[in-house]
Amino acid sequence: MTRHFLRDDDLTPAQQAEVLDLAVRLKAAPYDERPLAGPRTVAVLFDKPTLRTQASFASGIAELGGFPMIIDGSLAQVGVRESVPDVARVLGRQAAMVVWRTHDQSRLEQMAEHCGVPVVNALTDQFHPCQVLADLLTLREHHGPLAGQVLAFVGDAACNMGHSYLLAGATAGMHVRVSGPTGFHPDPEVLAQAETVAHATGGSVAFVADPVEAVTGAGAVATDTWVSMGREDEAAARVEAFAPWQLDATLLGHADADALVLHCLPAYRGKEITAEVIDGPQSVVWDEAENRRHAQKAVMTWLLDRSRSGDCA
Ligand code: NVA
Repeated sequence: MTRHFLRDDDLTPAQQAEVLDLAVRLKAAPYDERPLAGPRTVAVLFDKPTLRTQASFASGIAELGGFPMIIDGSLAQVGVRESVPDVARVLGRQAAMVVWRTHDQSRLEQMAEHCGVPVVNALTDQFHPCQVLADLLTLREHHGPLAGQVLAFVGDAACNMGHSYLLAGATAGMHVRVSGPTGFHPDPEVLAQAETVAHATGGSVAFVADPVEAVTGAGAVATDTWVSMGREDEAAARVEAFAPWQLDATLLGHADADALVLHCLPAYRGKEITAEVIDGPQSVVWDEAENRRHAQKAVMTWLLDRSRSGDCA
């Protein structure tokens, strides 16, 4: 049996804590775990643009003793030139693991169903679980235990980041509020699932229409581009709709005095966040970017270990 990390709630609260503990350990001792020694190959496939994800997976796989086989999705043309299941069967014969950034979540699920090795979500339209694991690691480093922390996400609450904060934050027992304009509310099914998880962990999740109300009392405030990859045609309308959700010093001023500012990057200064805020003293965005490597190394190690031992709970 094979374990995958396709969405944030693929990890139970205990498993998420285990992965984050491992990330802390690997950050302190980067070469402690060598599950890919050989080197074994990890296929890392991109159907959308990337910088941090490619860099952090490539360096992380190397630190785990492995070789990152970077595949350009525009050449592979998965689903066009050949079907997802056929690509999955081929990659599963060549690689110890598949990491994929793609469009709809269903493509990733098909990959997992057919390739026989662990599959990791490196961003889909719906979720970005590796980024949010890195964010949780960052929050732990700066503010301690996650349970009970209040995180507000302002902007495109319908995008992958909004969804992943809801699911992963609930899993960690956090209080997560997401806020965005009409037409950019989270998927009701994701919100409902996050509510179920939060009920079990003592956390909470909420959609809050008013951005000021959402950030009031928050210990962390996150935002993301208003124009996710693939939404470029909607840029003008989005910039207008999202203007009241810009994370500027005034909005941040409603959060706790020591609130951390999170952004997955790339950032568009003057759009979703001001330069004053992202380059200011409360911003931890470079820690987040670094923590991608540590969090992803922990996930990969954990998945390989679980898959090898046949523990797929
Ligand atoms: N929501 C953004 C995240 C970028 C890392 C996008 O999908 O483009």
